[in-house]
Amino acid sequence: MAHQSDIYWLGVAAEQSLIPYTVKRNPRVGAVVVDKSGLAIAKGFHEGYGSAHAEQVVLEKLKGRAKGATLYVNLAPCNHVGKTPSCCVEIINRGIKRVVYSNADPNPLSQGNIEFLKANGVEVSHIKMPKKYENINLRWFKSFEMDRPFVTAKIALTLDGKINDGSSRKLRITGKDAEIEVHAIRNGCDAIVTGTGTVLADNPRLNVRFPRKLKQSNQPIRFIVGDREIPDDYLVKDESSQTQFCRKISPKIVLEELSKLDVRTVLLESGATLLTQFLNQDLVDELVIYMAPTAIGQGQAIVDGILQSVSNRTFNISSVGLVGNDLRFKVSFR
Ligand SMILES: NC(=O)c1ccc[n+]([C@@H]2O[C@H](COP(=O)([O-])OP(=O)(O)OC[C@H]3O[C@@H](n4cnc5c(N)ncnc54)[C@H](OP(=O)(O)O)[C@@H]3O)[C@@H](O)[C@H]2O)c1
Repeated sequence: MAHQSDIYWLGVAAEQSLIPYTVKRNPRVGAVVVDKSGLAIAKGFHEGYGSAHAEQVVLEKLKGRAKGATLYVNLAPCNHVGKTPSCCVEIINRGIKRVVYSNADPNPLSQGNIEFLKANGVEVSHIKMPKKYENINLRWFKSFEMDRPFVTAKIALTLDGKINDGSSRKLRITGKDAEIEVHAIRNGCDAIVTGTGTVLADNPRLNVRFPRKLKQSNQPIRFIVGDREIPDDYLVKDESSQTQFCRKISPKIVLEELSKLDVRTVLLESGATLLTQFLNQDLVDELVIYMAPTAIGQGQAIVDGILQSVSNRTFNISSVGLVGNDLRFKVSFR
């Protein structure tokens, strides 16, 4: 049975996890340590790939003052030595009396972590996160379940369902607000995938520049697929982010290649050709559509040809919103 105070402190840990602007390839994790009198004595969060885990951050802040306290964390503490030491060992060594967590760690390397804590005298409670925070790492968890990166596809459409006007000139369909929001979506993904068709037609930069430009190591990896050569002066070849070029391969192989780079979340920002391939192989998990109140009469449709895996099926619209003068809606396929 969960106490109100446990739920409250888990919410505080969740808020901590939301502080870093980006946590590439890793989950968002926050922690708070509460002493015997019920006061928070340390709060902290994980800053992303290769940096200290949230538990280590708070225990380090406390030095020797963690004895007898309770540690709240949204993800169960790890018990393996990777880029950082084992959190379970630190928790035991520092004398934490009780650990309250809300999500099990899906990483197979973490198996046995809870049993290890209990065997070493630490009381452990598994308590559900308040609803407001339960989706914080949803795509990361689904990626483990599916054993491949979670794929969000984003597309901008006109009212008459076109993604371009059929000419060779670059067409901006949606407004500034939608553009800024797309940068936030990019920031939440580990990689951006597109086809040579989009790169050659639009010469996009495919990096995060709003509300601030990320340093190269925090940018999503740009993954460009297709046989055609991209000229050296194209923007995806600039130094702002890491870019990987790959010959024409199936979407399944694209995701396998990205898994090798520890990518868990992908944003597909392609034209109709590659999007249709991903949809047909049932490899789009979420579709984000921006619809602008304009009609251009001619141009390419959102998909190229017949959709096999998604035709005659109904999916959920998980959210709808107005972004500036454009409509945004999300379709969930999982
Ligand atoms: N409105 C929007 O949101 C939006 C977004 C993106 C693009 N667009 C528009 O879309 C147009 C480009 O369309 P597009 O369909 O050519 O772009 P695309 O889907 O990004 O690229 C298609 C190319 O990807 C390569 N490719 C790699 N793997 C493939 C696979 N498994 N199957 C098929 N092709 C694969 C092929 O190039 P190779 O021949 O080189 O192998 C193919 O021609 C542009 O006008 C652009 O403005 C609109």
